[in-house]
Amino acid sequence: MNFWRNIAKPIIGLSPMDGVTDASFRFIAAKYGPPDVTVTEFVNVEAALYAPHTLIRDLAYSEIERPVVAQIYGHTPELFYKVAHVIGELGFDGLDINMGCPVKTVASKGSGAGLILKPELAQSIIRAARQGIEDWSAGQTLDDLSLKPALIQGVRELNRRRFDRETSRARRAIPVSVKTRLGYDDVVVETWIQTLLEEKPAAITLHGRTLKQQYKGSADWDAIARAVEIAKNSDTLILGNGDLRDMADVYRRVCETHVDGVLIGRAAQGEPWIFRAKEHVKQALRSQCGEMIHDVPVSLAERFSVMLEHSAHFAGHTQIHSFVGMRKHLAWYCKGTRGAAELRAQMVRVKDIDEVAALLRAYAESLGAAFAANYPPTSPEPHTLRP
Ligand SMILES: Cc1cc2nc3c(=O)[nH]c(=O)nc-3n(C[C@H](O)[C@H](O)[C@H](O)COP(=O)(O)O)c2cc1C
Repeated sequence: MNFWRNIAKPIIGLSPMDGVTDASFRFIAAKYGPPDVTVTEFVNVEAALYAPHTLIRDLAYSEIERPVVAQIYGHTPELFYKVAHVIGELGFDGLDINMGCPVKTVASKGSGAGLILKPELAQSIIRAARQGIEDWSAGQTLDDLSLKPALIQGVRELNRRRFDRETSRARRAIPVSVKTRLGYDDVVVETWIQTLLEEKPAAITLHGRTLKQQYKGSADWDAIARAVEIAKNSDTLILGNGDLRDMADVYRRVCETHVDGVLIGRAAQGEPWIFRAKEHVKQALRSQCGEMIHDVPVSLAERFSVMLEHSAHFAGHTQIHSFVGMRKHLAWYCKGTRGAAELRAQMVRVKDIDEVAALLRAYAESLGAAFAANYPPTSPEPHTLRP
């Protein structure tokens, strides 16, 4: 069951962003985009041993996100094997291994982009994750793995909420993919891609920078194109990633590099509807007419209404997140509005959805906008993680 193959190319998905693409943001992106695929924030496999509640918290998702992929990171193959069972049991459509995180605390331990320096370990991790998925799909249960009882309970609870039953609906061998960078200090994409291809991942997403670059400079799409060339006779899809600002950028990069798809990260911050225009790209590529690419405009009224809906969804998870985590999203949503700086300064101090609604109403009234009467909404029902 390789969902990657069922998506019309180019695949245009939401890139995982720790602290950003949580369950609420992904719900909103899926509702107002949707992207072709969503990926969770990365989750440390060690959490299975030491902090099962964080693993469960970060692996919550809603049905409308499908296909939805769980991203994990670490440096211990045995833990990838075990967590692969958890991901299968939770009903994810795919498992992605992070081999690109440049953060010192991650990479210095040999996880994330640190794995670029340890190709054999990287290969063992892919094999362990795939074996975990295969054994789970063949019938092995979480109880067979001596996992923490809190982890098993957490999985059952999440499944009960989503499926109305404790176990996943069907056991299927979901695809394993990798997200990585061009190299550690230097670009070594040619050898690194070969190493990964030996393990036949379903897809590789390449962020066009090295670890050393972090987020500096520009993404090197020529290097991504070289990876596409190397992988062209394999069954692995190559997705490009880095600095895509809008669908016109996506169209250009797909034409130039022939990637099978892209993941969009920062451009979706405060713009979850960016994916609305993805069909324009697919259509333009079919008809070879780049002039068809334009982003779908979003009215101020809709922007504000999404801000409230996102806040309500987020607030529905206050047992998981404090509302503080919503502030950055609210600030991003202000981008491009008149007097954005002032509105943003107010949004980064809000404590709850009532304050958000009051600020939006005052702002809309100051513009004389008729939709000011919509705020606060009659009753913002907190959303649950159910579809
Ligand atoms: C705040 C933040 C958090 C990120 N967290 C993750 C992560 O958890 N997993 C991952 O693979 N990449 C992560 N990334 C990298 C992005 O997925 C993406 O590769 C990078 O931002 C380049 O794409 P962009 O230019 O479209 O943003 C993160 C990036 C940002 C800005």
